[in-house]
Amino acid sequence: MRLLKTVEGLGCWLGSQSGSVGLVPTMGALHEGHLSLIRQARRDNDIVVVSIFVNPLQFGPNEDLEAYPRTLEVDAALCEVAKADCIFAPSPLDFYGSDFNQPNALVKVIPPPTLAQPLCGQFRPGHFDGVATVVTKLISLVRPQRSYFGQKDGQQLAIIRQLVRDLNLPGAVIGCPIVREADGLALSSRNRYLDGQERQQAVILYRGLRRAEQEFRAGVRSQHSLVRIVLQYLETAPAVVPQYIELVNPYTLAPLEKIETVGMLAVAALVGTTRLIDNVVLRARRPIIAIDGPAGAGKSTVARQLAHQLGLLYLDTGAMYRAFTWYVLSQGCDPEDEVAVADLLPKCDIKLVARASDHGPQPPEVWVNDTSVTQAIRTAAVTANVSTIAAQGSVREALVKQQMQYGLAGGVVADGRDIGTHVFPDAELKIFLTASVEERARRRQRDLASRSQPVPELAALTQTISERDYKDSTREISPLRQADDAIEVVTDTLAIDSVIDKLLTLYEENVVTEDKP
Ligand code: PAF
Repeated sequence: MRLLKTVEGLGCWLGSQSGSVGLVPTMGALHEGHLSLIRQARRDNDIVVVSIFVNPLQFGPNEDLEAYPRTLEVDAALCEVAKADCIFAPSPLDFYGSDFNQPNALVKVIPPPTLAQPLCGQFRPGHFDGVATVVTKLISLVRPQRSYFGQKDGQQLAIIRQLVRDLNLPGAVIGCPIVREADGLALSSRNRYLDGQERQQAVILYRGLRRAEQEFRAGVRSQHSLVRIVLQYLETAPAVVPQYIELVNPYTLAPLEKIETVGMLAVAALVGTTRLIDNVVLRARRPIIAIDGPAGAGKSTVARQLAHQLGLLYLDTGAMYRAFTWYVLSQGCDPEDEVAVADLLPKCDIKLVARASDHGPQPPEVWVNDTSVTQAIRTAAVTANVSTIAAQGSVREALVKQQMQYGLAGGVVADGRDIGTHVFPDAELKIFLTASVEERARRRQRDLASRSQPVPELAALTQTISERDYKDSTREISPLRQADDAIEVVTDTLAIDSVIDKLLTLYEENVVTEDKP
């Protein structure tokens, strides 16, 4: 791992590297929250750069700039263990040039007041100008594919998302979950300022938010009630003085009267002299993402990876048809006998269970009644019969019903041909993933070659794919059709990682704007 202390050194080193770059901006004093960002960056990228820079521009005149913990040696050891490739730890003089101690002489990035003034902005004037400026510089220097920020600083995350979008800064912004102590206190470099009694009382922020979340799950939606619950908790801890408790849209930060789809309940309080923040994002229904498109556009790979990144279930509809086919065969039933097949439908209970993994996306575990069939549905016999079964009207009807059941609780990514038009017409995000016929033919050739299978001529494959498109879009049951409100993503010139990043950005931009005032 390299430790680089100058902008020039960083530029030289990056110039000698190849592959995708993940950037984790920090101010050091690393804790498990930062390490979770670094580990996520490690999983997603070839190269991981951690910046450690206590940015003077984001501290107010009476804030803790001097006292802020600086622990570079320990931080470097932690980065090494988390397998970062490089730490960028410049001095303010090197980073900002000689004007660093006359901040008014520097060009700054000023986020819009609607984002920078509410919440913490009321108590820390100028803070988010400093954050936006340093993050713009870091992203411009590193030019990462992805930058990682914690959800704990929910307002900062919303500002950085819009900053990257508005200034066309490179790469996707990845928000990562809050990491907490065993008792629930959100990890923060400032927790080390708390004395024993303050530390004990600080956990009340989390307890209040957790209680509000429980009430939200039980149906409470109004700002008034949710805020009151948190306040009642904070009032029980004498060392805790609330600064604000607010319910806002997590992306626009606009205040909400009640939660229709999603809200961020955010709190800031002084605990003794230490200022702590925390929040919880409350979703009325976990979102549904529908991905439709022609064969060979990469839908299932994309859907699986996207579900993994967003912590949603990949509703593998193909696996459901395979599971039913396995059941039909296991009952000794002739797959062509539509009446006998239809009789089996009510007896076959299919379940998909998401599999958590640190090593990238995994297909869900598949159960039929009480039998795990995750492996069994991939056998040649199932493959040979699945399209006969899936073409039967009664089978499609029953399985679409089951898919809709999953949609009731939300939290799924599903791919197919009629997901956005028929199965989940109210999906929060609909994508129509497509590529030209020629590109899909080339991909098919590459795929066959990589599996050492015979590779047909490009012209012949192009012809077959065109015919398949025509058939898919004109068939009676579940025809392929782009939903009116679907966003078309053409993948001809995009590698799979870029498709995922694009969809993550679309998710950020679209799933949330529903709550815009
Ligand atoms: O969240 C932080 O630690 C800082 O605000 C950041 C993003 C590293 C910018 O200095």
